[in-house]
Amino acid sequence: MSKPLIYVTRKLPEELLKPYEEHLQFKMWQEADTPVPQDVLYKEVSKADGILSTITENIDITFLDHASHLKVIANMAVGYDNIDVAAASEHNIIVTNTPDVLTETTADLAFTLLLATARRIVEASQVIKDSSWGDWAPFMLAGSDIHNKTIGIIGMGRIGEAVGRRAKGFGMDILYHNRNRNEKIETELGARYGTFEDVISEADFVVSLIPLTDETKDLFDEQAFSAMKSSAIFINVSRGGVVDEQALYDALQRGVIQAAGLDVFKNEPIDATHPLVDLPNAVLLPHIGSASVQTREKMIKLCLDNISQIFAGKDPLTEVKAKK
Ligand code: DGY
Repeated sequence: MSKPLIYVTRKLPEELLKPYEEHLQFKMWQEADTPVPQDVLYKEVSKADGILSTITENIDITFLDHASHLKVIANMAVGYDNIDVAAASEHNIIVTNTPDVLTETTADLAFTLLLATARRIVEASQVIKDSSWGDWAPFMLAGSDIHNKTIGIIGMGRIGEAVGRRAKGFGMDILYHNRNRNEKIETELGARYGTFEDVISEADFVVSLIPLTDETKDLFDEQAFSAMKSSAIFINVSRGGVVDEQALYDALQRGVIQAAGLDVFKNEPIDATHPLVDLPNAVLLPHIGSASVQTREKMIKLCLDNISQIFAGKDPLTEVKAKK
């Protein structure tokens, strides 16, 4: 019997696939920095038994019409808003994601953005690169303190908890909002639960860690930014779709809030023509939340382990279930 064929939609290190070749065969898109074009993807998928996908593939009903024979879609991300999980489940396709392995790395990046934005690190570095460091001045590049301030975490899942632990280390007061209360974090970190409105209006740093769903789309809108303190700093490392970017732009430009640190955008990739780029109080990153070499390797391995389990007739390790 021939080995199941897995189509890998991005170029990944061959040595990570090797250990799985005893039971699986792979075909991989070969261009390093560009996603597979849709027509090629549809053609390849028609011949495959499973795919290892990433957030750049839009796995919607049209895709699934070409791919209803697949056994598995192993998505190399914890977020799966690029996949119509309900439609996949109707075709009996198992969808898996990569939770846990990226938690600490993504929390590191959230905190990096928080620190960089509060202390104006990008602007400060630019002063030297532009040779514009004049004399020392009392308020030159003065930013905001982090210690003793209040962090408001919207979405207290695994990454929210990891951000909370870092905040505790910085002597911050922790407020959070989540669908369900997280008693563990209340006991361990002294975190206080509040409504969305309470948290965003009391926090000095509002950190978005919620998944993109129909309910959270544009959650951070004009009303939300107006409810924040004028000294508030907004951080987003979840999905760009949870933010109304025009409302954020207006809030940053008019001083409704102080600054923002963003790793994610509504329509990625963005470039220098994006309006937020011109704002000195916005620190912008190209979706690198989980991008450490070690974590990216773990994410790939978890995808491959999920695929192996499924073709060995076992339960996947991290399945995404369709909402009932
Ligand atoms: C995720 O895991 O959802 C990230 O955004 C992609 O690395």
